Amino acid sequence: MKIDVALEPSEIAQLGGRDLTGTTCVVFDVLRATSSMVTGLSGGVEEIIPVSTIEEALAKKGSRSDLLLGGERFGERIQGFDLGNSPFEYRDLRGAKIVTTTTNGTVALRACVGAQRVFVGAILNLGAVVRMLKQSGVQSLLLVCAGTFETLALEDVWAAGCLLRSFQDEMWSDAAHVAFGVVQRWPEPLAALKAARNGRELLSKGRLDDVEWCAKESVLDVVGVMEEGVVRPVFGA
Ligand code: MLT
Repeated sequence: MKIDVALEPSEIAQLGGRDLTGTTCVVFDVLRATSSMVTGLSGGVEEIIPVSTIEEALAKKGSRSDLLLGGERFGERIQGFDLGNSPFEYRDLRGAKIVTTTTNGTVALRACVGAQRVFVGAILNLGAVVRMLKQSGVQSLLLVCAGTFETLALEDVWAAGCLLRSFQDEMWSDAAHVAFGVVQRWPEPLAALKAARNGRELLSKGRLDDVEWCAKESVLDVVGVMEEGVVRPVFGA
């Protein structure tokens, strides 16, 4: 298997021009979009529709009154939306269907729509993602680090590097070696998240609970699988 890592948003912006038809993508936005998604899916959320803009989210909601509106801008709930982007808001939503837009995470997921398979990854479900990848007969794997605004986010690269621990005999790109190096620097996820710019920002806003939760490794046995633009849960891979 060939493994590459899109380390930062400028690479994600170019994915539209890349043939991903034989590629499996795992998208990481650890703080906090994909962590919130897998938290919700593990608690019974049935569908998550990631969209890039607030306008698209409102249009979807306009055509489907059963949807909740979720997401953030500058880390805060969007005015008039039902949910923000803290994983704790997604815990008790059994049966919910959600359309969500976030600054980077949902954009990264949308950029992967042409891929053979798209999985929603977080530190929370890393073990489940690894098992799913091992069962899927993947030939080409792209780990997509959503980043923050225009820049790389340490926590996303850390998650990609941690996943690589389980695929050490495969063909790695240089970017994969870089991601793996980040995990050597911070072997513990919470230390990496606290060193990261996003982690420090959340701590300064009193959101230690979000950071601590998002740093828990492999505690959720669910993978979000995106098909035709809709993410649904797969349990027990
Ligand atoms: C994003 O999608 O950019 C992030 O998840 C932002 C956040 O959690 O506030």
